[in-house]
Amino acid sequence: MKIYDLIGIGFGPSNIALAITLEEQKQASYGIESFFIEKQPDFAWHANMMLDNAHMQVSFLKDLATMRNPSSHFTFINYLHQKNRLQDFINLKTFFPSRYEFNDYLTWAASHFDHCCAYGEEVLEILPEKHGSEVELLRVRSRNQDQVVNERLTRNLVISIGGQPRIPDGFRSLKEDSRVFHSNSYLKEIKRHPNAKRIAVVGGGQSAAEIFMDLHHRYTAAQVDLIMRARAIKPSDDSPFVNEIFNTDFTDHVFNSSDQQRTEILSEFWHTNYAAPDLVLIEQIFNVFYRQKIAGIEQHRYLRRHEVKQAVSQKDGIQFVLHDLGADRDYIESYDIVVLATGYNRDYHKYLLAPILPYFEDMRVDRQYRLRSVTQFKPAVFLQGACESSHGLSDTLLSVTATRTQEIVQALIHSTSNQSASGQLKRAMPSALAY
Ligand SMILES: Cc1cc2nc3c(=O)[nH]c(=O)nc-3n(C[C@H](O)[C@H](O)[C@H](O)COP(=O)(O)OP(=O)(O)OC[C@H]3O[C@@H](n4cnc5c(N)ncnc54)[C@H](O)[C@@H]3O)c2cc1C
Ligand SMILES: NC(=O)c1ccc[n+]([C@@H]2O[C@H](COP(=O)([O-])OP(=O)(O)OC[C@H]3O[C@@H](n4cnc5c(N)ncnc54)[C@H](OP(=O)(O)O)[C@@H]3O)[C@@H](O)[C@H]2O)c1
Repeated sequence: MKIYDLIGIGFGPSNIALAITLEEQKQASYGIESFFIEKQPDFAWHANMMLDNAHMQVSFLKDLATMRNPSSHFTFINYLHQKNRLQDFINLKTFFPSRYEFNDYLTWAASHFDHCCAYGEEVLEILPEKHGSEVELLRVRSRNQDQVVNERLTRNLVISIGGQPRIPDGFRSLKEDSRVFHSNSYLKEIKRHPNAKRIAVVGGGQSAAEIFMDLHHRYTAAQVDLIMRARAIKPSDDSPFVNEIFNTDFTDHVFNSSDQQRTEILSEFWHTNYAAPDLVLIEQIFNVFYRQKIAGIEQHRYLRRHEVKQAVSQKDGIQFVLHDLGADRDYIESYDIVVLATGYNRDYHKYLLAPILPYFEDMRVDRQYRLRSVTQFKPAVFLQGACESSHGLSDTLLSVTATRTQEIVQALIHSTSNQSASGQLKRAMPSALAY
């Protein structure tokens, strides 16, 4: 069986940026043979949240390449140039393209790597390939859309699988009820409920805010309740001094801080990213409620300081026991559909790595995102997007995507050189790309 130098799990922005860095390293004659496995049938960037008017929350300059190599073929500016839209984009006068356009940019970038990415395959688990007492290789087991299980061997692994929908405990028993779904599958699911009249949106982050406005426009007569524990929807702070926490050198600062300092930094700046919609969106929502006041109707409701104590599936709806934290009282409401805009968990890599967990010291990564392992374990395993607690709030975002891949590739070159028979890694590999 063929042995790859590197297999990447997931082909979202993090691993596309890595593929680009590896490609550009090839031109510097460091050849690392890589392959990527993506569970979606084609490239798509959070497709079920591709809502009208949704915009990027980061400057287009923090694209897949610019921060690492502004002269790369894969910059957003070169994409515009290739698509003959550069001048039109300039006339838009924005740093924040639509998510629709950024998805098109990412799709364009991903398309360069079709020869080394298997789409429509979900990685199920990673198994050790032992030689004596040492683990030399990893066996990556995946299942394609025809339910066929594939296996591939690799010397190193990069896991960049993004977040998994966070479902609050009280909703887990409703998993099979199609009337309850997470924001992650919003567009796919909402189309199945054209006649919904009572809708609950749980959460107070960017996803909840975007979905509330989408529902407001999508259903003229439905009642939408926006339910959150917070006292107010607070805006994401992207003012310049605060935004410095997303600078690449801040990653060093966070990583080199003590555990306690890191916890304090994360907590101080938590609301730059989480439970923090854009101010413009908050103003739009406020305006909806204000117009209701003028009209003297209460179509939608803003249920702040509310908790869902219980959710029960009934024939004619999903029944909530809501707890009003302000008034300290419970009451019952029933909904036709419930959208859980409750954020994401980022620990699924532990399930994929379950068969090799004993080889890792403590599931912490080093500065170059490599999981610390025992000496008998030779492969390097890197994590992208699951290192917020050690590397800071930029880890789940696009901010450091380009520079992070440079750090990983440097560690990979070191690791692969040690693994290669000659101890050298200077294999000139012809580029498979025409650009
Ligand atoms: C709606 C939405 C909008 C966002 N907008 C912004 C923004 O404007 N700016 C910003 O900085 N950040 C934004 N983010 C944060 C987001 O995390 C990053 O933009 C970016 O998507 C991170 O890239 P990634 O490759 O690490 O993860 P993802 O984009 O989540 O990609 C992970 C990929 O791995 C695949 N995968 C998962 N499990 C497996 C498996 N077992 N086998 C094979 N493939 C698998 C997934 O299908 C997916 O394609 C947004 C997040 C959401 C939810
Ligand atoms: N256009 C865009 O660019 C765009 C669009 C959508 C998302 N995003 C990004 O995607 C990331 C995630 O955003 P998100 O809005 O999906 O998630 P989020 O910011 O993590 O917000 C999750 C919300 O759910 C609430 N919540 C979590 N668990 C809950 C529970 N058990 N019960 C009740 N409420 C609960 C949280 O409330 P508490 O605060 O009370 O815990 C919070 O209000 C962010 O980086 C965001 O910027 C970007």
